Amino acid sequence: MPLPKAELHLHVEGTLEPELAFELAARNGVTLPYADTEELRAAYRFKDLQSFLNLYYELMTVLRTEQDFADLADAYLARAAAQGVRHAEIFFDPQAHIARGLSLGTVVEGLWRALGGSERNHGVSTRLIMCFLRDESADSALETLQAATPYLDRITGIGLDSAEVGHPPAKFREVYRAAAELGLRRVAHAGEEGPPAYITEALDLLGVERVDHGLRCLEDPALVERLVRERIPLTLCPLSNVRLRAVETLADHPLPAMLDAGLLCTVNSDDPAYFGGYVGDNFRAVRETLGLGEDRLRELARNSFLASFLEDDEERRAR
Ligand code: ADE
Ligand code: ZN
Repeated sequence: MPLPKAELHLHVEGTLEPELAFELAARNGVTLPYADTEELRAAYRFKDLQSFLNLYYELMTVLRTEQDFADLADAYLARAAAQGVRHAEIFFDPQAHIARGLSLGTVVEGLWRALGGSERNHGVSTRLIMCFLRDESADSALETLQAATPYLDRITGIGLDSAEVGHPPAKFREVYRAAAELGLRRVAHAGEEGPPAYITEALDLLGVERVDHGLRCLEDPALVERLVRERIPLTLCPLSNVRLRAVETLADHPLPAMLDAGLLCTVNSDDPAYFGGYVGDNFRAVRETLGLGEDRLRELARNSFLASFLEDDEERRAR
């Protein structure tokens, strides 16, 4: 039996496996610039975040209808459940779809077809987190938040993702303030490729409750001390960090040192179709390569529920 866990850092568009990408391309008359799944998989060699994002945005053009989003999310939930996931907080990137002419309704209604039946069908409770693309303007983020007004009963929180360097959290102060007033929970990617100062900004200017990645906090001991003191969860993604070259090899990953420092770490998959595995695969990799023992793995699983946006009673039931 895999360890029960929550997944808190998962981009639904990053769960698009090559087989489903080709199936949806055929269904929607989209031509992909790859002959087959093998040729596509061979393109999964990334030198940094941007080289991955280029492919990620290219491939998501196969997603066109509500049913496409439902099929995508349902396939993820089935895989996650098989790896012990009991609760998933799922990111999506509305601006990437709206820019292609889709409506926000198509995306949210489609995802909801799968999420609405997830507890019944997969035994996985879910939350939806709408991310803003940080390489788009602050105005575009505000417009997206406005467009989401009819769907706020289905959206638990907001996040910030895409190309980090050069797009500091400060740019999104206003939209985070507006989201807080609407009662939305707040997270942001920070310190994946960007400097530790972006983590501090995300905490101080955006009021984030969790930091996605946060890996580069280690360069600032005072920040580490603060994250420990304030019990700010970090949603780490070890296999992603290797594929996007944030660390050289998995053996170099600082997760053990971060746990030893008292940081509230969680392990997640980020974009599992692209990075070589789902959350259980990430757990297995850190156990095998970093030598984390049973106690540490249980701590990581416990942290995932503690750091989630589940209400207290639901949190207890899931464990
Ligand atoms: N969008 C999808 N995956 C991402 C990641 N790892 N970092 C930033 N933006 C992303
Ligand atoms: Zn991410």
